[in-house]
Amino acid sequence: MSNTIKLSIGKAKLQINDKTAELPIIQGSDGGLGVDIATLRAQTGAIIYDNGFNNTTSTLSGISYINGESGILRYRGYAIEDLVHYASYREVAYLMVNGKLPTLKEANQFSAYLTEHSMIDEDMHHFFAGFPRTSHPMAILAAMVTSLSSFYPEIAHDDVNFTITAARLISKVRTIAAFSYKKSRGLPVVYPQAHLSYVENFLNMMFNTPNRPYNIKSEENQLYVNILDKLLILHADHGQNCSTTAVKLVGSTQANLYAAVSAGICALWGPLHGGANQAVIEMLENIKEDGGNVEKYIENAKNKDYRLMGFGHALYKSYDPRATLAKELLDDFLSKCSISEPLFEIAQELERRVLSDDYFIERKLYPNIDFYTGIIYKALGIPTNMLTVMFVLGRLPGWIAQWRELMGYGIKIFRPRQIYIGPGAVEYVKMEDRV
Ligand code: CMC
Repeated sequence: MSNTIKLSIGKAKLQINDKTAELPIIQGSDGGLGVDIATLRAQTGAIIYDNGFNNTTSTLSGISYINGESGILRYRGYAIEDLVHYASYREVAYLMVNGKLPTLKEANQFSAYLTEHSMIDEDMHHFFAGFPRTSHPMAILAAMVTSLSSFYPEIAHDDVNFTITAARLISKVRTIAAFSYKKSRGLPVVYPQAHLSYVENFLNMMFNTPNRPYNIKSEENQLYVNILDKLLILHADHGQNCSTTAVKLVGSTQANLYAAVSAGICALWGPLHGGANQAVIEMLENIKEDGGNVEKYIENAKNKDYRLMGFGHALYKSYDPRATLAKELLDDFLSKCSISEPLFEIAQELERRVLSDDYFIERKLYPNIDFYTGIIYKALGIPTNMLTVMFVLGRLPGWIAQWRELMGYGIKIFRPRQIYIGPGAVEYVKMEDRV
């Protein structure tokens, strides 16, 4: 999409005191309406106040379509359900970055790029040694991704070279993620193998150890590979969410792709965003330690003592379609693997109680993607502090695509204003005269 597309369909009038602004109304391809307020201040002296930017956009985007009322999510026009059921993560990553599904030849070429760029520079290994053993893997990941810009400073924008850049980043972040886990456990790193797929490599790098070889090709581990591939698809993009906006905010300054993605990683880390999957497991563990008293946690959430992690969404006021698919994956997985885990029973009980409680019904608070994905990752044996890292692996193609889309617009630096509520002009008092 380019910024030359004609979107204006008429004018809105906004009266502020004695001044009336005439503002273009723009319409998206889905019929969604927006008012272009760029000249509002010039016409009236006023700006728009929108706490949390929930009713604001600075972006024209053709990457993911979300209808929160009807629970619809599409990537580049394709239903998330179809992609999860029929596509692979490498196809979806390619789709995100290039705007079209790959042919077999293109998919194989993309896999070849992923394989070719899976190693990280040996010099980067020293960086891992500098982090304390207790480091959160998200902290290491953010720092390492910024460091990549020192090793790969050139980013070409033509289709072929940008696809290679995207594959390089997607592949290396996967390797860095597994290395940061090994670092946190004090274990030797496992290098990526050219004969393994993207997800196989990740699991092998995570779980293979010198004294306990990990058979990635076993039937059970292939089940894990399959479900993980689908989970990554579920995370691949989600409109102008907080981390994507962070990527774009930093990208709008013309900082490089790695710096922008690193900002996205930091934004995703918070428990109200991608960090919710870790917070879900911690909450379930707290409930378990508290004797499984689900009701107490529900009541405390209703009293606003804290939020039930993994419930609610800023856009979805019906079921999050990703949560529906994740629940499907979880049920399928648990039916195939005999995993006995008390947290799953607590999760089921919590979900059942929330869905029938007026507080949550009135506020349209349903389980979100992080509720189920947190539980699935736990079932797959992914350590709790790695859960948000999994979200990063999935979201990377979306961040890269959104960054690329932004670059294509002729970037305007993001520079919001403020409603000032501080003191008026105050006279400076020299230190010796202050009381
Ligand atoms: N538990 C209890 N009450 C809640 C929750 C929750 N998880 N979420 C919202 N509420 C209440 C909130 O207290 C408020 O009540 P009232 O109207 O009485 O003041 C009402 O629901 C609306 O809350 P809000 O803050 O205006 O809702 P929001 O749409 O801005 O917030 C959210 C969205 C995701 C930040 C929020 O639902 C939340 O904090 N959820 C828990 C964290 C979580 O699971 N985050 C992952 C989101 S999905 C992954 C992603 O895309 O990041």
